Amino acid sequence: MNKRIVLITGAGIGIGRAAALTFGAQGDHVIVTDVLDDKGAEVVTEIQAAGGSAEFHHLDVTSTEAADALVGDLNTRFGGVDVIVANAGIALRVPMSEMTDETWHKTMDVDLYGMLRVIRPALPAMKEGASIICLSSIMGTSYGWDEHVHYSTAKSGVIGLIRGLAVEFADKGIRVNGVAPGYIRTAQLLNPGHSLGPDAAEIASPYIPMKRLGEPAEIANVIKFLASDDASYLTGQVITVDGGLTPGRY
Ligand SMILES: NC(=O)c1ccc[n+]([C@@H]2O[C@H](COP(=O)([O-])OP(=O)(O)OC[C@H]3O[C@@H](n4cnc5c(N)ncnc54)[C@H](O)[C@@H]3O)[C@@H](O)[C@H]2O)c1
Repeated sequence: MNKRIVLITGAGIGIGRAAALTFGAQGDHVIVTDVLDDKGAEVVTEIQAAGGSAEFHHLDVTSTEAADALVGDLNTRFGGVDVIVANAGIALRVPMSEMTDETWHKTMDVDLYGMLRVIRPALPAMKEGASIICLSSIMGTSYGWDEHVHYSTAKSGVIGLIRGLAVEFADKGIRVNGVAPGYIRTAQLLNPGHSLGPDAAEIASPYIPMKRLGEPAEIANVIKFLASDDASYLTGQVITVDGGLTPGRY
């Protein structure tokens, strides 16, 4: 197959789904993975219905064994992965007074180690021109976030992961970058147990210089650019996509 092989984690809904549809629409072969089997399968059906190419695999990014097995299979079948979008993530609202080791580790396990688990087995077979994009957050790059210290910590860790990998693999022609979304309209953002919730999102919107939440496709388009040859000299960077929120003065 001469299509690019694009592996996306957490691709059943939200930003991951939007990225899968975007890569599918430009003719790549999309490896849609998620713990949400029905949602992931629906994304594959959508890509195929639009004339694209995709396959679904159940992948829980907290399992090293499962990540090794899936990526090993892709390496064997396709000779390596061309693009990884390490997107799977959870946000849980937990005040520090209720923070347990278990909750802390769970967030690190999905949001930070989960990225390492898919990237590590892919790297040896990735070729010059390959690209890795990891999802950080403005809560990792710029802001502290009350009741989400574990999330901010993990998303800041993602920046270290990006920079370290970018430098270690630059001379192999493998680029590693990140996207730090602001407030994007997804299930995560609209659930008050996870993130802002609908009420806080409405209150926050006027403070965003562009006066609105972002849409998943607006993150997917930046991911597409980072994975393209148009970004051939760009590595080790995290692009903030937030409608002007962090440079704003409020
Ligand atoms: N929505 C925002 O405003 C926003 C802002 C900043 C950063 N982000 C980040 O962008 C990424 C996507 O977020 P989203 O808003 O689309 O979230 P979402 O909740 O809509 O989707 C997250 C996806 O990750 C999957 N997932 C969760 N745990 C998993 C696991 N253990 N293994 C595999 N998949 C798992 C979910 O099933 C889901 O498909 C996340 O890393 C998130 O932290 C989102």
